[in-house]
Amino acid sequence: MSKEMLNIALPKGRLGEKVYSMFEKAGYECPSIHEKNRKLIFENEEKGVRYFWVKPSDVAIYVERGAADIGVAGKDILNEYEPNVYELLDLNTGICKMMVAAPANFHDDKSRTLRVATKFVNVARTYYASKSRDIDIIKLNGSIEIAPILGLSDVIVDIVETGTTLRENNLKVYEDIFPISARLISNKSSFQFKTSQIEDLVEAMKVQVDRK
Ligand code: PRP
Repeated sequence: MSKEMLNIALPKGRLGEKVYSMFEKAGYECPSIHEKNRKLIFENEEKGVRYFWVKPSDVAIYVERGAADIGVAGKDILNEYEPNVYELLDLNTGICKMMVAAPANFHDDKSRTLRVATKFVNVARTYYASKSRDIDIIKLNGSIEIAPILGLSDVIVDIVETGTTLRENNLKVYEDIFPISARLISNKSSFQFKTSQIEDLVEAMKVQVDRK
């Protein structure tokens, strides 16, 4: 019987490239992925893997619904959407932080509702609920750093990697919320049906993580 393919959702972009090279070194290469074209699906039948590139914030949706057996998603996305998946391995890459940032002269007036601009609505709600702080969420889709500069919000809840975007826009980290890294996730029923295939892959990826 031919081996069943493992469907793997990768986040399009820099993180995805890094993570794919971990899969490659772990013995799950798919040479056609390096061809210069705009294809989104690549497979290596011999290795039993089929990769597809999706928007980073969509990886968890593909995996939760079983369109992908496994995938790679940042802890930011997992905390925001809380998909019903297994988190198999911390890949120790794509490291950054979720934080609250504000203009340098920001002073939190606790008697007022705090206006928070963010892409991460659930993360922000949960964080401020734990502090019993009243907030007004302003949901944006990108360039969040502009919001406090233009007076649209008091603070932002967003990701900081190098800190360059904050620095160049005169904002400062005000509070840390949680550390972020990329995680290998699995669809729950795929894990029951393709247990040994997935476990072998996790073991091979662990070796790559430990080598870093
Ligand atoms: C993320 C984040 C910050 C920036 C942080 O933005 O929202 O804007 O990266 O990185 P840094 O600390 O290294 O400067 P992303 O590139 O995902 O774009 P967007 O949120 O504006 O869409």
